[in-house]
Amino acid sequence: MSRAAAPRVHAHDFTPDVESFREDVLRGLALPQKEIPAKYFYDSRGSELFEEICGLEEYYPTRTETALLRKVASEIADRVGPNAVLIEYGAGASQKVRILLDRLEATAAFIPIDISGEHLLQAAKSLAADYPRLQIVPVAADYTERFELPVPSGLGSAKKVVFFPGSTIGNFSEPEAKDFLKKSAALLAGGGEMIVGVDLKKDERVLLDAYNDAKGVTARFNLNLLTRINTEIGADFDLAAFEHHAPWNPEAGRIEMHLVSRIRQSVTVAGRQFEFAEGESIHTENSYKFTVGEFQDLARSAGFDPVTVWTDDRDLFSIHYLRAA
Ligand code: AVI
Repeated sequence: MSRAAAPRVHAHDFTPDVESFREDVLRGLALPQKEIPAKYFYDSRGSELFEEICGLEEYYPTRTETALLRKVASEIADRVGPNAVLIEYGAGASQKVRILLDRLEATAAFIPIDISGEHLLQAAKSLAADYPRLQIVPVAADYTERFELPVPSGLGSAKKVVFFPGSTIGNFSEPEAKDFLKKSAALLAGGGEMIVGVDLKKDERVLLDAYNDAKGVTARFNLNLLTRINTEIGADFDLAAFEHHAPWNPEAGRIEMHLVSRIRQSVTVAGRQFEFAEGESIHTENSYKFTVGEFQDLARSAGFDPVTVWTDDRDLFSIHYLRAA
């Protein structure tokens, strides 16, 4: 990072502590269907692996959404208008937002929010170097929990626009997605808008390939959760004794990710013992897929008016432009 860029990046850290991680893991492993919340994938190794996933041949969402964003960026910029405060949830490497920043007129400030603080700060510094006039306020936080949005002074009345790409909304359960959209609508009340990337329902084979890539990167991403538990909470998961499993659940309309025990075994986590039968799984992620209509109904039920929606030529992915009602 150049020294000149440093003063424009004012970071805030509200990331969940190791106690919450331990509690969530212990609670999840005690359930009849063992589970661990997907948000814990994203330590710095997990974030790196996720970025690798985004570049995979089989993982169509990233390249499809990126191409669609490029195609409609000037339409988005017209709708956003000048001097808006842009807020990105789950900003990660902040690559996609560059497509918007390149088109937007005089963005007042950019507030990237991500659970992986280290990763976020690196991305913010690189943005600061490339957009020298932009005020950047990175916030390391779990944006599904309550936290204070640090809008820079003097910008309290600026139009706020939330950017939530990548179909991360699909990783929430329906009540969580509704609750999250409701909170976003409250944040944006009084003229704010939201741009959401949403993965669409499609041929099952395409979906299965996207979550079961030939190089095994998604499997490593899934298994990294066990490494993280071993090192951060203190556990003795043997990674070789678990395997990645990612089926399509047609009734629920979602891809599920599981870590399946290859053998009957017992594992000690934070001093507590958990038994696994052979073939028993830990459910680690849901990735819901929507039709355009299903997502618009969800957005309406949470207090948004759908303004417009763009899809790619193959109807793989959608970008929704919503206005807080
Ligand atoms: C972040 N999220 C939208 C990804 C998805 O597709 O549900 C996470 C992911 N899991 C496996 N591959 C990618």
